[in-house]
Amino acid sequence: MSTDRSQVDRSQDGAPAPERSIPLIDLVAQHREIAPAVLEAVQKIFAEQKFILGDEVAEFEHDVGSYCDARESISCASGTDALLLALMGLDIGRGDEVITSPFTFFATGSSIARVGGRPVFVDIDPVSFNIDPRAVEEKIGPRTRAIMPVHLFGQCAEMEPLCRIATRAGLSIVEDACQAIGAEYQGRRAGVLGTVGCFSFFPTKNLGGAGDGGLMTTDDLTLAKRLRRLRVHGDVGQYEHHEIGINSRLDALQAAVLRIKLKSLDQWTMARQRNARRYAVLFQEYNLLDAVELPVVLPGRRHVYNQYCVRVLDGRRDEVLKSLREQKVGCAIYYPKPLHLQTCFADLGYKAGMLPHSEKASAEVLALPIYAELSADDQEHVVRALARALGRTPKRSLQAVLAGPNRRPGVSAPLPRYSASEE
Ligand SMILES: Cc1ncc(COP(=O)(O)O)c(C=O)c1O
Repeated sequence: MSTDRSQVDRSQDGAPAPERSIPLIDLVAQHREIAPAVLEAVQKIFAEQKFILGDEVAEFEHDVGSYCDARESISCASGTDALLLALMGLDIGRGDEVITSPFTFFATGSSIARVGGRPVFVDIDPVSFNIDPRAVEEKIGPRTRAIMPVHLFGQCAEMEPLCRIATRAGLSIVEDACQAIGAEYQGRRAGVLGTVGCFSFFPTKNLGGAGDGGLMTTDDLTLAKRLRRLRVHGDVGQYEHHEIGINSRLDALQAAVLRIKLKSLDQWTMARQRNARRYAVLFQEYNLLDAVELPVVLPGRRHVYNQYCVRVLDGRRDEVLKSLREQKVGCAIYYPKPLHLQTCFADLGYKAGMLPHSEKASAEVLALPIYAELSADDQEHVVRALARALGRTPKRSLQAVLAGPNRRPGVSAPLPRYSASEE
């Protein structure tokens, strides 16, 4: 394989993009690295024929609990179920309000509605894409029971003010950490920043299984005990039920795969962070920062980049998306419609224009490939494709060219708009 395909590419400035395809995420490349260990673990499970919960799951809960610095970790069947179980464990139900972000995956809002509660959507901070604590404070009323911040794209929400607000008002905090395993806020891990943290092991997450999976973390031992019961129909043992739970258990096969992947998680996260730095340099070198806004890492955060979402300015996002897809560069919109404007939430009474930062984000964001195995060369290809999509000549700035033809992007260049706390 050529080590410097960008050289070939550069001599064709302005010409149509060469035939080359870069996916948004490449799980095949990731699996190649760990295949022997995964296959061995899977064979062991089949030999033992113990498929649900059991030792493998208990070991995984222990490993991932330590990783998250949580006293207790309770696995379940998906991130959605983790959110549902967390709300059930906190007795949130009919008529209770939970304040959350509308700029997130559907399950954040639907889990609240599914337990009979009312999601109260408030606007986001346009810089971090996360819930704005001031907006949360304004919406606290007599029926408010909890706040559900989302650590969107892998960067923690502004937890300190949120915790202060929650303590003052006597509210619980359910962290939707589904995209944020290993993310940190002021040195503490996502999942232990509130009352209970919820994780997803959907295959495209930074720690992704071979199917669905989820987990809750908490330092509250009583709550943990209840969550363990709720995930098995509320069974307290010997088919004795004092309350009604659900059936939401992690499979041993998933646990075995996840235990293997957990060992590589920090290495993969660091590769994602390196890729984010490379993008910062490349977007600057290709003079695209007037058209595209890059993600910002706020102080005191460890961003784990489950997604690398840029904003495409001047209403050009959809045009850029179409062009990137034509050029075979994987990209996606997370999320095209904020939850307060979803048809199923129409009875909550929200109208377009009510949460402007969330609506603007939905119109501007575009996720680019950031996965650990993405090469520097591929990243330059993505940036060049994006330049073409904007109708620019994909050319590095003179300064960047003078810095030397062999300099690999992101190695020695300054790190615009990134904090030192990133790794
Ligand atoms: C922010 C957020 N919340 C909740 C979920 C739900 O997780 P799952 O797909 O495992 O049910 C996801 C996963 O897509 C997510 O990204």
